[in-house]
Amino acid sequence: MAICNLKKLFLRKDIIKLIDSLTKNMGVSICIEDNAGATLYGSGGNNRVCLPITASGQTVGLVYAHDGSKIAASASLLNYIVETEMQKKALAAEALDKYGELTMLYDFVEKVNAFNVKEIADFLIRHVLEQIKADNVSVMLLDEVTGLLKLVAEGGSVRNIARAQMSAIGIVGSVIKSGKAEIINDCHADQRCEMDTGSVSSIICSPVKAREKALGVVIAGTVEPYNYSADDLHFFCTLVSQAAFAMDNARLYESLKKAFIKTVNTLAETIEKRDPYTGGHTKRVMTYSIAIAEILGISAGDRERLVLASVLHDIGKIGISDHVLRKTTKLTDEEFEEIKTHTTCGQEILAYIEELQGIIPGIRSHHERFDGRGYPDKLKGLEIDLIARIIAVADTFDAMTSDRPYRKGLPFDTALEEMRRCAGTQFDAMVVEAFFGAVENHRINPENNEG
Ligand SMILES: [Fe+2]
Repeated sequence: MAICNLKKLFLRKDIIKLIDSLTKNMGVSICIEDNAGATLYGSGGNNRVCLPITASGQTVGLVYAHDGSKIAASASLLNYIVETEMQKKALAAEALDKYGELTMLYDFVEKVNAFNVKEIADFLIRHVLEQIKADNVSVMLLDEVTGLLKLVAEGGSVRNIARAQMSAIGIVGSVIKSGKAEIINDCHADQRCEMDTGSVSSIICSPVKAREKALGVVIAGTVEPYNYSADDLHFFCTLVSQAAFAMDNARLYESLKKAFIKTVNTLAETIEKRDPYTGGHTKRVMTYSIAIAEILGISAGDRERLVLASVLHDIGKIGISDHVLRKTTKLTDEEFEEIKTHTTCGQEILAYIEELQGIIPGIRSHHERFDGRGYPDKLKGLEIDLIARIIAVADTFDAMTSDRPYRKGLPFDTALEEMRRCAGTQFDAMVVEAFFGAVENHRINPENNEG
């Protein structure tokens, strides 16, 4: 318990008022000093008798009175006041602790829902290690296909407690089967622990459950024997169950995302089938775009947008008539105007798909030029979305190096010279620089166009 700060207590008006009325009723004049000898109440005057004021067995101050018969009553009343205040303070501290725990949980729930499965597992481990004594925390999830437990993440000062992959037997199997968390403070006395817990002596183990389904198990353990309490178990299980929902959502989201990207790719293939001269173009534009983005070091969110936008950049060609799209001779001005509409047409198609709103600027603006002479909006410089500036470089380079029925593609080195020449006019010089970085590290190379 915290040592009572008597000085602080006597700064409070309600306490002074209370002692005023007590001393008045008792007809006694007292003086109170703290341990350092500072007068907190009354004045020394002729007071000759003195008693200590104690709280939780510690002397926190002294009370002086002139009348020896009443000082004992004054001291015990003061002890009572001080003790009560201390208890209040302890209660407040406990409430504050609970509040801290709650906000931490809230923060945990908030953050955890924005992550992928591995990130959630790492986040969970960090929080478990902060709150519960453990030398190792391992998160293992069941593989839906093989039924084996796979180690997703591990933390703590001792590693390699759980195997990378294992059958759901022993204590982990038992916890998954029963759906109930367990504390085993003496692993050496529990047969189930033999093969699962390696060098740990005490463990706390919780199933990972969501929507009534077992997803896996989380184990925290200590090398030296330790007595995990019911409080530890409660807190551990709360964290694990929050993480379980987030992991379940993340798994679902990840599989939806995979299905979505597959659909997007099918859509892109449909465009290529209509425009047979661009065989493999979409894939190469995506490859080049990602290679450029990696040199630029764009954010994970922008990278995701870039992958989708580069695959779908010409989706609007669905709306262009066959005779224009498949024409092998020079386009008339009118036909070129029609081709140009594939950017806005692409935007119109994507406007119906909520998940793709973020990539619309990349699609609409991939034919804008850095000098403002592009289409459809004549945007200039940084007004053009970064994704569009990257696709413009990747798209043009591939168009230059690919064969068309009416012309042969430019040799790789000639196309590189052309890119260098157009940096700062047609293209963002920064993106062209990154493009050359990708050429240097062979992510963009002459073999891309073969096969
Ligand atoms: Fe295009």
